[in-house]
Amino acid sequence: MIQNEVLDCIRSRRSTRNFQEQQIKEEELEALLDAAIWAPSGGNNQSWLFTAVQNKEALSRINELLKEGFQRWTPDDDYPGKLGAKAMAQKKDCRFFYHAPTLIIASNRPNYENAMADCSLALENLFLAARSLGLGSCYINQLHWLRNDPELREFLFELGIPREHTICSSAVVGYIAKESSVPPRKEGTINIIK
Ligand SMILES: Cc1cc2nc3c(=O)[nH]c(=O)nc-3n(C[C@H](O)[C@H](O)[C@H](O)COP(=O)(O)O)c2cc1C
Repeated sequence: MIQNEVLDCIRSRRSTRNFQEQQIKEEELEALLDAAIWAPSGGNNQSWLFTAVQNKEALSRINELLKEGFQRWTPDDDYPGKLGAKAMAQKKDCRFFYHAPTLIIASNRPNYENAMADCSLALENLFLAARSLGLGSCYINQLHWLRNDPELREFLFELGIPREHTICSSAVVGYIAKESSVPPRKEGTINIIK
């Protein structure tokens, strides 16, 4: 197997779910956001918006709004993660962001077919950049699921996310408190025709 710095970074990136309290450095945040905006985008639209939330009160407020929102929310399918999130929201000490000090919300303009694809590629850039800097990161889906929750959206609007934007995805970032285990790769997911 070929090895180089980029391939090693891709293979060794893990989803972190245990973070230190300490905030990441300014230049680290800058590097992560810069990596995100250098992702490819359909038609070179670059219509995304990356909102980094580092304010503790704002992070707690979003967590609370998610908890409340999930009580009102009925999942439109039986995807286990959705049911798990709804159950988790009922726990008093529920922390969707795993105490991470930084949350990055990726939103995009409405009715744009590539909104999710563009934001997902950008977040993977961000995850790999985080890994290259020794930071932990994790994809957080709850904001996407509750993207139409009026109370959550009101608060996100106060944070500068346009009302009409769709919330595609989000990511938490911070210094790693506990390394995650390595999930093995499944067999039969590659098909080569020669
Ligand atoms: C679309 C998507 C949604 C995800 N949502 C969450 C989430 O809400 N919370 C979470 O802890 N991890 C979430 N993850 C992370 C996955 O659980 C993780 O990538 C997977 O278990 C493989 O582990 P690894 O990232 O360490 O390789 C999500 C990943 C993807 C791609």
